[in-house]
Amino acid sequence: MISIKALAESPGLTSIPPTYTFTRSPNDEPVSDDPEDSIPIIDFSLLTSGTPDQRSKSIHQLGKACQDWGFFMVINHGVPESLMKAMSDACGEFFNLTEEEKREYGGKHVLDSIRCGTSFNASVDKVLFWRDFLKIFVHPQFHSPSKPAAFREILLEYSKRSRELAMELLKGISMSLGLGDTYIQNALNLELGLQLLAANLYPPCPEPELAMGMPPHSDHGLLTLLIQNGISGLQVQHQSKWVNVNSIPNAFVVNVGDHMEITSNGKYKSVVHRALVNEKATRISIATVIGPPLDTVVGPAPKLVHRETNAPAYTGIKYKEYMQLQQSNQLDGKSCLDHVRILPA
Ligand code: OGA
Ligand code: NI
Repeated sequence: MISIKALAESPGLTSIPPTYTFTRSPNDEPVSDDPEDSIPIIDFSLLTSGTPDQRSKSIHQLGKACQDWGFFMVINHGVPESLMKAMSDACGEFFNLTEEEKREYGGKHVLDSIRCGTSFNASVDKVLFWRDFLKIFVHPQFHSPSKPAAFREILLEYSKRSRELAMELLKGISMSLGLGDTYIQNALNLELGLQLLAANLYPPCPEPELAMGMPPHSDHGLLTLLIQNGISGLQVQHQSKWVNVNSIPNAFVVNVGDHMEITSNGKYKSVVHRALVNEKATRISIATVIGPPLDTVVGPAPKLVHRETNAPAYTGIKYKEYMQLQQSNQLDGKSCLDHVRILPA
């Protein structure tokens, strides 16, 4: 299958091949034109090193952001800008390798430690998406492609720093659920948890309104931390509208994934989002997915479940089975969660 990069670079491309025409559903939500509609901002420095009062306010804000939006921006996070830029550049260079060089990592299984390709799952996608990707398992075992030369070192450092950030955010989220700061880490054995880096490349598209970079979906993990190369494209579903995420330079965009929805017994819901493409600029985004260990079965936190007033709303399946489920179907909103949802009697 031709990469979208190779296709987009075909000389004189003025329209997209019909297989890339994404039909928006007739009841697709409108895009919000309210400038007030924007995802909340969390100041990480207040969460971790503020006064006790600032910390408890931050935890409250974090919980509110998870509950109201499922998406928030994190500023003052301490991850060096130079490292974020280096990671984004290194991913750009990976996509610049020859098709031959990239083929070494192509067309494999969802649980393979390094995998690149195009669209989402090109063997089941009825419509192809205007996107190439590179997915790497960086925890509990660290993996890296051997090219480009500097990739491994940058990836190692970026993975470490983004993991530290995620763990602090999870502490705050755990507190906001009234579970104590280490509950999520311990109950889900995150010491051995999966961390997946997914780099997305969205080259310029001659007919951006007809194509789709990534269709509406939720993420499978607990939390996803996203950085982008300064080009917008991400939209988040909120109160029946699509809201543009115009990223603040050097901020992380963080969202609640399906396994946080399960753990919190539905208090914090994963949120549907999509990535649009544009005519002019290449967009690179890098998602870091933090999840439980692949063999862990995640169910709602017992403390959040009450037999009469708050019955468990999800059964658990192994995280890796959940990932396989998502990968073997077409990406379709939150349909994967339906497989583990318990319907009220
Ligand atoms: C993802 C994702 C959005 C983006 O990788 O899961 O939703 O803006 N990416 O690229
Ligand atoms: Ni996503």
